[in-house]
Amino acid sequence: MTLHLDRRQALAAGLSAAAGTLVPASASLSASAEGPAGASGPPVGSLPLRQRVWQLGSDQRGPGSLEQVERTLAAPAPDEVVVEVLASALNNRDLQLLRQAYGPAQPAERIPVGDGAGVVVAVGAQVEGITLGQRVTAPHFVSWLDGAYRPEVFAADLGITRDGWLAEYITLPAAALVPVPESMSFEQAAALGTAGITAWRVLVEFAGLRAGDTVLALGTGGVATLGLQIARMHGARVAITSSSDDKLAVARELGAEITVNYRNEPDWDHAVLEATGGRGVDIVLETVGFGTLPQSLRCCAPNGRIGVLGSLDPGGDRVPNLSTMLLRNLRVEGVTSGSRRMLAELLQACAVNGISPHIDRRFGFDEAREALEYLAGGEHVGKVVISS
Ligand SMILES: NC(=O)c1ccc[n+]([C@@H]2O[C@H](COP(=O)([O-])OP(=O)(O)OC[C@H]3O[C@@H](n4cnc5c(N)ncnc54)[C@H](OP(=O)(O)O)[C@@H]3O)[C@@H](O)[C@H]2O)c1
Repeated sequence: MTLHLDRRQALAAGLSAAAGTLVPASASLSASAEGPAGASGPPVGSLPLRQRVWQLGSDQRGPGSLEQVERTLAAPAPDEVVVEVLASALNNRDLQLLRQAYGPAQPAERIPVGDGAGVVVAVGAQVEGITLGQRVTAPHFVSWLDGAYRPEVFAADLGITRDGWLAEYITLPAAALVPVPESMSFEQAAALGTAGITAWRVLVEFAGLRAGDTVLALGTGGVATLGLQIARMHGARVAITSSSDDKLAVARELGAEITVNYRNEPDWDHAVLEATGGRGVDIVLETVGFGTLPQSLRCCAPNGRIGVLGSLDPGGDRVPNLSTMLLRNLRVEGVTSGSRRMLAELLQACAVNGISPHIDRRFGFDEAREALEYLAGGEHVGKVVISS
């Protein structure tokens, strides 16, 4: 892990030079990659540090449209903190946003990327219980702390409707912060974000995953691979599909028992049924959407649960068979990510069980366009991260 101490020193110096309101240099400099450090400093008042950020740009036709610019970092509001970003992680929705395919187009100045982790370098006047140098991450829906899903959470969605992690610093509501466990790196914490929370919510919260269950994950992208790892952590058996035998080999190394190449075997549901002795699977992480839902339904065991979360294939005229659902008493639920509480539980579970999210490839901050192009190419298994 490379820490930009020069940048942190610059921050400390810059803040100290500002009109008497800022984080003490000693506290800021005491943060380290290995663990929390430093005592809580006085609140930050105003001012100014120049930082590099990536913004969407006005073109928004894909990763090439991203622009790197310099911007002034404002002091946090009384209930906010400033975090120095040490790692961020990419998701398919970051690509969709860049192509104007994720809800309404966002302003050219928006900083993308919903997942990341770093250290607290400044705290607002009313923030309590957060220490300078604390290692933190946050859910991308920063206002969804706990409880049931509400559509209003989209109003504060990191990297979409609120500036995200593809910058040297990010300003976050203090209430959204989740401490990163001592044993976990910034990259690992970032990689567990959106994809991990969503897989966790499907498997643990919705489907009530139990040891001995059989879980089916579709594809080997971020959500499916973290789903595989979370399922194995709970003692479940995992079936997984992919377009690539090489990717299936990686999935087997991560603990998948049943692997099916959906390109070579278009009737992959038959293969899954056969591999489970005709019984089928208990839980499906439906990352693809209506294109695969008819087959996902067909390879469910009685009382199976399907968490529908993806939209990679809208399905055309493929219509799920209702009688399959009725006769097998299947439950199908739409899932939109998860809360701060779910992210905290996921991090704790991974730390206790020594689970490290599978990171396919790392890029530097200046290689953000290349990182997103790599994700778009679909060569990855698991997560693609950007380290500062
Ligand atoms: N609802 C939510 O809160 C939520 C949260 C996170 C993600 N999502 C959605 O979930 C989907 C996956 O996200 P991600 O970040 O994991 O994506 P990703 O890392 O880009 O992975 C995409 C992978 O999906 C697989 N795939 C594509 N088409 C497929 C098909 N027809 N059948 C089987 N597998 C197929 C491919 O795996 P192989 O190369 O192995 O074939 C591909 O690499 C996206 O639609 C994303 O928007 C939703």
